[in-house]
Amino acid sequence: MASVETHKNGTAQNLLSKAPWTDEQGISMKIYQGVVLTLEVIVLIVKMYATWFYSIYKFFVPPEPKSVKGEIILITGAGHGMGREMALSFAKLGGTIVCVDINSTGNQETVEMIKDSKGKAHSYLCDVTSRTSINEMAEKIRKEVGEVTILINNAGIMPCKPLLQTGEKEIRTAFEVNCLAHLWTLQAFLPGMMERNHGHIVAMSSMAGVIGLRNLVPYCGTKFAVRGMMEAVHEELREDPRDFSGIKLTCICPYIVDTGLCKNPKIKFPSLMKILSPQEAVEHIVDAVRREYHEITIPSSLYYINQMFRVFPRSVPLHIKDFLDSGLEAQ
Ligand SMILES: NC(=O)c1ccc[n+]([C@@H]2O[C@H](COP(=O)([O-])OP(=O)(O)OC[C@H]3O[C@@H](n4cnc5c(N)ncnc54)[C@H](O)[C@@H]3O)[C@@H](O)[C@H]2O)c1
Ligand SMILES: *[C@@H]1O[C@H](CO)[C@@H](O)[C@H](O)[C@H]1NC(C)=O
Repeated sequence: MASVETHKNGTAQNLLSKAPWTDEQGISMKIYQGVVLTLEVIVLIVKMYATWFYSIYKFFVPPEPKSVKGEIILITGAGHGMGREMALSFAKLGGTIVCVDINSTGNQETVEMIKDSKGKAHSYLCDVTSRTSINEMAEKIRKEVGEVTILINNAGIMPCKPLLQTGEKEIRTAFEVNCLAHLWTLQAFLPGMMERNHGHIVAMSSMAGVIGLRNLVPYCGTKFAVRGMMEAVHEELREDPRDFSGIKLTCICPYIVDTGLCKNPKIKFPSLMKILSPQEAVEHIVDAVRREYHEITIPSSLYYINQMFRVFPRSVPLHIKDFLDSGLEAQ
């Protein structure tokens, strides 16, 4: 306590008595600093408005979809559902697909489908919950295929029941697959992207990563986490003194897609939130990746509904949620 006070007094006294400038110089110094600060604030405001107007312009005139020809695209969970559909679509667009799944049958099927339509694909069996397996696989891919330039973290599982009925193992595995695996693949493939300042990371979150839903407590946790990690990686790359502007990030938040993952969906207004086929959902995903959007919901209307109602106090949007009355029933 005493030492703090001495320190405080000492500093103030020292500054006043030891200042190398006269009173007059002190005043002009303060004026100078004030002017600089004012200019900085003006620049900040101008930048904010300019970016805002540019975003509005970009909303009406979206960026052209980029080519993925020649890119090496790794997709986890490529053996089924949206992972498979993404593999097929990106292969058609000229990408070399690295299919990764824990299920060798499904994964091999996807690779055959791509090869049948003259696309380029490779199959790697891997349990994405194992960091060692991911690192070994990454080494093999580097030698056998090349440097992965687009990483799609898609593999996911969904225990769907009340929290108190969900077992420990189920909960841990959900976090391992849906969440930790993203970190392991990032650690394995991000350095290659950073070396060339070229790459794209795509993460499958969910509408369950935007709003909390019953029967999905651990799942919501994993999907909220995915969005948080993607935002944080974005900041880490943006604030690095090296230039990583060539590395793009896209986070995907679908509502319900008919892949078999969601067993008992309940939807009151199918026109607003219809259950999409994996093909339909993947059309939106591929478009979002090619236009380098940072985050999308599928359907896109949910993004605006969520943004709009989040500005109200918490109890207000709950009425909307009750009115829309949809979610997942326990298995
Ligand atoms: N289907 C939906 O309604 C929906 C909605 C929102 C978000 N999502 C998310 O989209 C992603 C894909 O969902 P889907 O419906 O296409 O799933 P899916 O069940 O059809 O396919 C998932 C694939 O991941 C693989 N996989 C599971 N665990 C793995 C592991 N440990 N290692 C490697 N591969 C593994 C499975 O073998 C399977 O081939 C998931 O992350 C899911 O959470 C799905
Ligand atoms: C593996 O994939 C095949 C083909 O899609 C499927 O028939 C089988 O049920 C899957 N196995 C597991 C354990 O999910």
